[in-house]
Amino acid sequence: MIVAEAGWRWCGARVAGATLSYVVAAAIGCTSPLPDPESQAAHVYVRECGTCHPAYPPHLLKSAMWRVQVERMEDIRRRRGMPPMAAVDEQTILDYLTRHAG
Ligand code: HEC
Repeated sequence: MIVAEAGWRWCGARVAGATLSYVVAAAIGCTSPLPDPESQAAHVYVRECGTCHPAYPPHLLKSAMWRVQVERMEDIRRRRGMPPMAAVDEQTILDYLTRHAG
């Protein structure tokens, strides 16, 4: 039960986030599976994009929106003093997201 409760709090934290996060979190619930979960791209995506918040399912956004979001996330990383993503990882992630975009 402790695990379930922790999971619920994690979801709640997301819902309390920024405006679009609210919509996104409400739309996906907390256990939405990713496409091609075993692919290398999915692993890179979860590793790079699933640390601050759960990795959002690619079908939620159009490919153009994903490009904007990935750039915004680079900004957020910079502001937090994190190193930028490796260019090859960023490309893998963008390919993955746009391939499965909504
Ligand atoms: C350093 C922490 C961090 C990492 C790493 C990160 N994000 Fe985010 N992300 C945030 C924060 C904080 C927000 C909510 C605030 C905001 O949207 O400005 C957010 C919000 C989002 C949103 C919701 C948009 C919104 O306006 O609420 C999407 C989609 C998203 N991130 C995608 C990604 C993707 C794709 C990656 C990997 C390339 C990624 N994130 C990596 C911190 C991060």
